[in-house]
Amino acid sequence: MFELSSTAGQTKDALYQDLASQARGLLAGEPDRIANAANFASLIYHSLPDLNWAGFYFFDGKELVVGPFQGKPACVRIAMGRGVCGTAAEQRTTQLVEDVHAFEGHIACDAASNSEIVVPLVNARGELLGVWDVDSPLVGRFDQVDREGMEALCRIFLESCQPSG
Ligand code: SME
Repeated sequence: MFELSSTAGQTKDALYQDLASQARGLLAGEPDRIANAANFASLIYHSLPDLNWAGFYFFDGKELVVGPFQGKPACVRIAMGRGVCGTAAEQRTTQLVEDVHAFEGHIACDAASNSEIVVPLVNARGELLGVWDVDSPLVGRFDQVDREGMEALCRIFLESCQPSG
């Protein structure tokens, strides 16, 4: 059984370093993308404070389709360029949104969400796998430390599902 380590009282930097080492341990030796995505979403959702949704949208070659997540049921399909997720996927850049209600085209899946961070998932071959999306009920929940921390965590996820051949 995997025990989540206690994260109470840590600085945000230390928290992300600890989460990175937990993620490496959790995904080690397992190449299955769905299995790793499910455990990755659970680890982060249960370790970081003030989140109401954390999960994946995978690119099916045409649009984004919801994958493993923690939180309330979400929109299933998001077109490229639409909402925060579709923007991150199309531009291949992390979207850090202080107030989702001020983001033109934001897709409200959970009315509790007020801020959001979305990291595009691009593998070593330059292929778009999808996006990693985290929502918070707090306005301005995510900052540059979260951006760097989430991007580092996403690299660990991407390394875990690299094709071997
Ligand atoms: N708010 C996202 C949609 C996905 S949910 O937050 C789970 C967006 O605008 O792309």
